[in-house]
Amino acid sequence: MATAIVVSFASSLVSSSTSLILTKLRPSPILRIPFPSPLRSSRRLRMAHTLAYATLGLTQPANINLPKIEFFAKEIDLVEWKGDILAVGVTEKDMAKDENSKFENSILRKLDTQLGGLLAQASSEEDFTGKSGQSTVLRLPGLGSKRVSLIGLGQCTATSAYRGLGEAVAAAAKASQASNVAIALASSDGLSNGSKLSTASAIATGTVLGVYEDNRFKSESKKLALKSVDILGLGTGPELENKLKYAGDVCSGVILGKELVNAPPNVLTPGVLAEEASKIASMYSDVISATILDEEKCKELKMGSYLGVAAASANPPHFIHLCYKPPSGPIKAKLGLVGKGLTFDSGGYNIKTGPGCLIELMKFDMGGSAAVLGAAKAIGQIKPPGVEAIKGLVFQVHFIVAACENMISGTGMRPGDIVTASNGKTIEVNNTDAEGRLTLADALIYACNQGVEKIVDLATLTGACIVALGPSIAGVFTPSDDLAKEVFAASEITGEKFWRMPLEESYWESMKSGVADMVNTGGRQGGAITAALFLKQFVSEKVQWMHIDMAGPVWNDKKRAATGFGVSTLVEWVLKNSS
Ligand code: BES
Ligand code: MN
Ligand code: ZN
Repeated sequence: MATAIVVSFASSLVSSSTSLILTKLRPSPILRIPFPSPLRSSRRLRMAHTLAYATLGLTQPANINLPKIEFFAKEIDLVEWKGDILAVGVTEKDMAKDENSKFENSILRKLDTQLGGLLAQASSEEDFTGKSGQSTVLRLPGLGSKRVSLIGLGQCTATSAYRGLGEAVAAAAKASQASNVAIALASSDGLSNGSKLSTASAIATGTVLGVYEDNRFKSESKKLALKSVDILGLGTGPELENKLKYAGDVCSGVILGKELVNAPPNVLTPGVLAEEASKIASMYSDVISATILDEEKCKELKMGSYLGVAAASANPPHFIHLCYKPPSGPIKAKLGLVGKGLTFDSGGYNIKTGPGCLIELMKFDMGGSAAVLGAAKAIGQIKPPGVEAIKGLVFQVHFIVAACENMISGTGMRPGDIVTASNGKTIEVNNTDAEGRLTLADALIYACNQGVEKIVDLATLTGACIVALGPSIAGVFTPSDDLAKEVFAASEITGEKFWRMPLEESYWESMKSGVADMVNTGGRQGGAITAALFLKQFVSEKVQWMHIDMAGPVWNDKKRAATGFGVSTLVEWVLKNSS
């Protein structure tokens, strides 16, 4: 029946020991998801923080009790299941009926028989045809479950459809305050073992992320009723458990990424971002170490480009460097993940003005760093295979963020100033609003100095990239076809959307300066490309490098919330490099 190993994961607030007690009382969950707690400091820490320096506006994130959802994989008959909602994912094909108006699909037919034909009747009355995005919740007597929900998968059965199934179940559970649900597919029999694993993992991911709400900054929040999710008919056993544990680890990284981006800029200052990074290191201190460089240290390292951006702010810059290292063994691959970390971007003297400039959303300008730190958290939990098991198959990952604010003051950078990056190159700042590339310049130089072979940087770098690709696709710039292949392979698995763009060298012409090595802003045309060409000046030729412009997908306008974009693909890519 239910699998028997508890896989619970660490969180700074919730101790995992309670799960062990539970195992004696009932079947063990295969996955227990306490949401992570970035920016939810313990009371003592918060007090200390408040005493040290009160946040502007006196806002403190609420210390919300972290909900826990337990996942069980079971092989039981749907009609036997007892609980609040029995959700069945159905394709359009599954809805086919025979000449007697009976379902051809055996699972639907059995359910319908048990319900005396009400399922077929109700679904046709509600026009439910199994199309993607359709769902229906029926209260039907005659089953152990209080409600039956049919959820449309459409025609395609890609990962994204199963994640959508999980999200739809989450929405139904929230709407009816369900505390336990079961999820099954009308046709799971035909799936290979491998597809059952990835299907179950996509369903769990969708459910967890669908149920998640960021209520830290609301004075009141509804308590989540959902406690347990039974995944039916997709197998049981250690392989599935591992897969779901992995999904849970990635989800906790995605949620961290969302919470970092959602946090307002008066709360999430560069200093607090550095604290959050340090927390990750202390939580996974067996594999991750943290180095935080203050302004003085950055000056010693001659990071004039980065410090120029930070110069107007009352909140000092913090250069963040986390390193994932296995406990022992030779190093096989050294990777660098670099994230733009502008906790707020006012534009500086080239202030963001006018409708559509989105200055009020510029807290999301640290989305690249959120992706990098979310990935660090997930990797700290996963501790990639081979690290402990097979000596010699180990590697290193460097997570690097030059965190600061782009503000305006008498100490700030002027348009026309020339700054000098840590590799000695000089930059005429013809626009203070093209600040991300200035911070990334020194971060990329620093990353190359760590001796990494491959670097992926992520940044909410240009509005031009949103114009080119719209709100949900990130632009990919890289001279390396090999690296492009690796990252696109990872994105196939995660479902995050990327599109490769050209690094057109002839456009460098517009980045030339009369007085310095370069300017920081070309013309309006091809703005995402010239930004990428600028970054390229600061990457060693020996390093395989990719720049990801995620200005569009960092934010979901409809949900008015962060997406957590980048985390899952980065984790997938890093893990591929570890084996
Ligand atoms: N953080 C912005 C890019 C951005 C703009 C992201 C809108 C998401 C939505 C970046 O620092 C910026 O201001 N870029 C300028 C560059 C320009 C001055 C060359 C831009 O895109 O307008
Ligand atoms: Mn800017
Ligand atoms: Zn910016």
